[in-house]
Amino acid sequence: PFSVRLANSGETYAVPADKSILEVLRAAGKVLPSSCESGTCGTCRTKLVAGEADHRDLALAEHERARNIMICVSRAKSRELVLDL
Ligand code: FES
Repeated sequence: PFSVRLANSGETYAVPADKSILEVLRAAGKVLPSSCESGTCGTCRTKLVAGEADHRDLALAEHERARNIMICVSRAKSRELVLDL
């Protein structure tokens, strides 16, 4: 498990092993765009402010991975990710 913090509100949510970041944020009432939900389309691309992502998508180019994350599939290597949301 890891947590995501939303940079704009400061809200923090725990992401359990069986839920995606997208699912956790939607359950908290956030309205977020998505399409494939399998890491290929790029719709759920979100800016990563801090933390190290465990990228599981096929959409981001290598040079984009330090500062972007596909929240439908990707997870965290660090204990917390800070998202530009
Ligand atoms: Fe398609 Fe996340 S919804 S990559």
